[in-house]
Amino acid sequence: AKKIKIAIDGPAGSGKSTIAEKLANILKINYLNSGALYRIIGYYLNEQKVDPQDSKNIENILEKLNIEIKNNHYFLGEKDVTTIIKDSKIGDLASLYSRNNIIREKVNEIIKKIAEKGSIVVDGRDIGTVVLPESDLKIYLTASIEERAKRRWGEEKGKKPNISFTEILEEIKNRDYNDSNRSIAPLKPARDAIIIDTTNLSIEEVLQKVLKIVEESG
Ligand code: C5P
Repeated sequence: AKKIKIAIDGPAGSGKSTIAEKLANILKINYLNSGALYRIIGYYLNEQKVDPQDSKNIENILEKLNIEIKNNHYFLGEKDVTTIIKDSKIGDLASLYSRNNIIREKVNEIIKKIAEKGSIVVDGRDIGTVVLPESDLKIYLTASIEERAKRRWGEEKGKKPNISFTEILEEIKNRDYNDSNRSIAPLKPARDAIIIDTTNLSIEEVLQKVLKIVEESG
């Protein structure tokens, strides 16, 4: 069968990881969460107390860093970090460190290597614009800030009962600002991306829309 590459980009809380993973399952192809790669690196460099601007040091560390992905589980060396890196604090670290171009190049290299192997759905911020511009299909998922904060709040309330909606709203606003205004690979739809506003759509409705787009694309 023909190899297919699907890029799904969008802001925090747009539902891209959920949709990308479900889509990959239905199409029976690989799924790669590029945000997880930034999260792993942000988590590790923060633990090592490395300054996000210290490119020389970061380059050395990244050369030795071993990131593995098996069955949608993400490993740092031997350690399964899939759950740890989901924390919103790690998301903020990812956003902070992801401005460093050495880190971006490392992540892009990992993504490209995996994407070469076969059909794949990759989600992130710059997959359609920078990393895999040759993708067969580019989807940009978005939703209002309030709706995205509501979704995040729903996810996080169980783990952090004291977290307020306003706190999450502020986190999302900051993340949007940082990701959209950085100089390298800022968050934006590719010129040929299909934009879906998911504000008033359920996960299932978004999934159906995306599946239809995939079918129509041949
Ligand atoms: O999507 P997720 O929330 O896991 O991403 C965490 C952070 O990693 C983002 O806020 C963004 O700063 C960075 N990121 C990126 N490019 C990607 C994926 C994630 O810069 N392709």
